[in-house]
Amino acid sequence: METEVQKTIDESKQGEATMVAGKSGAKKLYLESYGCQMNFADSEIVASILSETGFSTTKNSAEADVIFMNTCSIRENAETRVRNKLSQFNKQKKRNPKLVIGILGCMAERLKKDLLEEEKLVDIVAGPDSYRDLPNLIEEVSGGQKAVNVLLSREETYADVSPVRLGEGGVTAFISIMRGCDNMCSFCVVPFTRGRERSRDPQSIVEEAKQLVEAGYKEVTLLGQNVDSYRWNITKKGEIIDPEKEVVSFAQLMEKVAQVSPELRIRFSTSHPKDMTDDVLHVIKKYENICNYIHLPVQSGNSDVLKRMNRGYTREWYLERIAAIRRIVPEAAISTDIITGFCGETEEEHQDTVSLMKEVGYDFSYMFFYSERPKTLAQRKFEDDIPEDIKKKRLNEVQALQSELSYKANEKVVGETHKVLVEGTSKRSEDDLYGRNSQNMTVIFPKEHYKPGDYVQVKIEGFTSATLRGVAITE
Ligand code: SAH
Ligand code: SF4
Ligand code: F3S
Repeated sequence: METEVQKTIDESKQGEATMVAGKSGAKKLYLESYGCQMNFADSEIVASILSETGFSTTKNSAEADVIFMNTCSIRENAETRVRNKLSQFNKQKKRNPKLVIGILGCMAERLKKDLLEEEKLVDIVAGPDSYRDLPNLIEEVSGGQKAVNVLLSREETYADVSPVRLGEGGVTAFISIMRGCDNMCSFCVVPFTRGRERSRDPQSIVEEAKQLVEAGYKEVTLLGQNVDSYRWNITKKGEIIDPEKEVVSFAQLMEKVAQVSPELRIRFSTSHPKDMTDDVLHVIKKYENICNYIHLPVQSGNSDVLKRMNRGYTREWYLERIAAIRRIVPEAAISTDIITGFCGETEEEHQDTVSLMKEVGYDFSYMFFYSERPKTLAQRKFEDDIPEDIKKKRLNEVQALQSELSYKANEKVVGETHKVLVEGTSKRSEDDLYGRNSQNMTVIFPKEHYKPGDYVQVKIEGFTSATLRGVAITE
């Protein structure tokens, strides 16, 4: 089921990997992606760059000439999973010494040459800004060497690379609108692995959306680590770079994409509480095809913890942003990310997270216990002093609370009719389809004559923990 895939592919959220669909060509590339949606979008860039040099993708690692793992460093267990998989691929390489194994993405950037020298597990190490160089790196390796490119860039956005769509279904797609992150949240490794924040040319984003519409896609998700700080032709200080050209904010960019086609749904991720403006909310309200769903990571409900996390907002500020959502887009579903057991977190501070969750009444949450990452501000400044059993106990507590909150959110919509974009056939039954409503809830209903890509009005009749169930209503 696509939504399950969506969740499982997202290491930042759930922690599994997905491989990609096949496309014809002489040499075979097997790509396995871990981590956030941006990493999955990057794998499509990689597939596109390599298709220029005669590579086609395969779903079967056994027939690959090149295996690339696009990796994530967000928590320690994300890296452990990749290491385990790498040793499996190395067994395959013992049987087939010509096989090239490369590591891409955030772990490549973080560990650089260590992966070649100390661990001897790979032939190629390529960071997120070096994918244009992959054909050369493969060349180098075929000459018997190891190859590394972990240079980060201030400009690279791969704006002109047309991604090879690797997801299945042909209904939903990702569009990267920016790269990197300048925020330096103290727990987070991303600024080190992805480099400085830079926004992509809005024209190329709109073009990509148009091409997707022409290819029959019905939904795009605009991606960035902090989409609210998207800016084109204007500096952070507000100075216009080229007076001849237009200035574009995130709100304006969304508007441009929403105008591409009323049949194209727009989602976006991730919003940042310190930067999310009312302008963005007004644009969501104005366009029916911009989904009523906001993922607004809070991390903690306590202002002192938020300060240690260097998040740039307080509990009060965050709750004011939630109030703005309720005021301007009352239909919106809200989800969040939470970290339990951050450095120095007292029981009272943890209880502030619990009370904030209740106050907001999140529809959904992604919850993690704190995992210290090398080089981050927190690692340098604070002690990772909360014992693992307490971190996990607090995690269990917020998870149990979220189950109750999600139950209530599901219960509320029973009896309502929701517009669902069909994404595919249910994994559990050939006779059912699945899709999502505007609020990002998964809805299952009997197939009848409907098919993926259709918008269907579904009357919600019941639910299980993760999905709503209903029947199509004929208009
Ligand atoms: N850019 C997004 C988040 C990207 S990482 C934002 O600013 O919200 C996704 C989530 O992983 C984060 O929101 C956070 O909850 C979690 N995370 C990041 N670093 C972590 C760490 N060191 N330990 C545990 N969870 C972490
Ligand atoms: Fe990490 Fe913070 Fe940037 Fe998100 S905003 S990627 S949590 S540094
Ligand atoms: Fe992971 Fe890198 Fe994304 S660390 S969450 S793949 S930006």
